[in-house]
Amino acid sequence: MSSKTIAIGDLKVGMFLLAFHDAKQKIAVKKPGRVPSQQVIDKLINDGIIEVTVDFERSTFTTKIEPASWKRDKSKLVAFDNEITRAHRLLKESKATVNKMLENVFAEQAVDLEPINKAADDIVESLSNNSDALHSLSALRTKDAYLAEHSLNVGVLLATFGKYLGWPRSDLAQLIVGGIVHDIGKTRVKLEILNKPGRLEPEEFEHMKLHQVYSKSLLNEIENLTQMSREVSTMHHEKLDGNGYPLGLKGEQISEVGRMSSIVDIYDALTASRCYKKAMSPAAALKIMMGLSGHHLDSELLKAFILCIGFYPVGSLVELSNNLLGLVWESNEDDMKKPLVKTFYNTQYNKYYEVKMIDLATSNLTIKRGVNPFEYNIDIDAYRHQAAN
Ligand SMILES: [Fe+2]
Repeated sequence: MSSKTIAIGDLKVGMFLLAFHDAKQKIAVKKPGRVPSQQVIDKLINDGIIEVTVDFERSTFTTKIEPASWKRDKSKLVAFDNEITRAHRLLKESKATVNKMLENVFAEQAVDLEPINKAADDIVESLSNNSDALHSLSALRTKDAYLAEHSLNVGVLLATFGKYLGWPRSDLAQLIVGGIVHDIGKTRVKLEILNKPGRLEPEEFEHMKLHQVYSKSLLNEIENLTQMSREVSTMHHEKLDGNGYPLGLKGEQISEVGRMSSIVDIYDALTASRCYKKAMSPAAALKIMMGLSGHHLDSELLKAFILCIGFYPVGSLVELSNNLLGLVWESNEDDMKKPLVKTFYNTQYNKYYEVKMIDLATSNLTIKRGVNPFEYNIDIDAYRHQAAN
């Protein structure tokens, strides 16, 4: 049993609250969940609560993140070269599963959660084997399958984020399912607006916002969808200051899952290329998101997300101090600014160079900057892992 009754003084932000006790009785929490802020704890104290029952297995501690606490034991990881082939197959199958689900919804057929749950479990497995493999592939996107790829990517990123926060595997799978269904209402948006090759006019944007209304009823029809998966979908456009949609929820009304989802949704949208806009580098996207911190996005969670993803995630393009351009190949958890980089281009002479693996952990070279893939007219995907091509 992972639940335990503790004194109110020991309650921390992130703990999963089941019940509270005042001097007379134990009162079950109407909607069990993680304590979102210190203000909630202060209010409980003011209300005369003396003890609380907490589910420790479902508790997370996002406000005090110790990067060291999530370091992987490298000896237990599956080798990148072994996992990449599996990750490639998994991503392909998962994309087919998501496409099938979207096709079914377009055709007004019921959503079968079983293959989606299976994909989610397999993704959690791959992330725990060696997360670099899936991440190195997620940069590979096709332009014609945006909704499916965005949905899957939001799921993978949410699970990566949840894993960083120390959430249990069953929660990670629910986050992936949530990501996969999060924009399901877009299947009811007018096709000419959904597929418009350009920015939306204000009235078109108002119509696009309706996808959240459509999502709600579509989610109700999915049997056995968990509350956590549902929240990814229903809350990913809410903003802390109440200016989001569909409900205009404010502050603590937005659950932790909802806050994480809006961070991940924006990050993936900014780093994807569309026919009307080019992809941003992760560093540029995170910088923009920092400008949304506090009023739109939860600042503590955003900080945690940045630590989790890093400015130079696996699969992203970087320029080194010797003008060589390359792909971040493997992450380095001891120092995220010093990953293993596969270089193949010289930006000073604008020409291809022999492929070289440079381990920044043991080199004097440093990363000068994260690079947007479109800056140089070169075929980057040809240099990604063979399994990805
Ligand atoms: Fe959305």
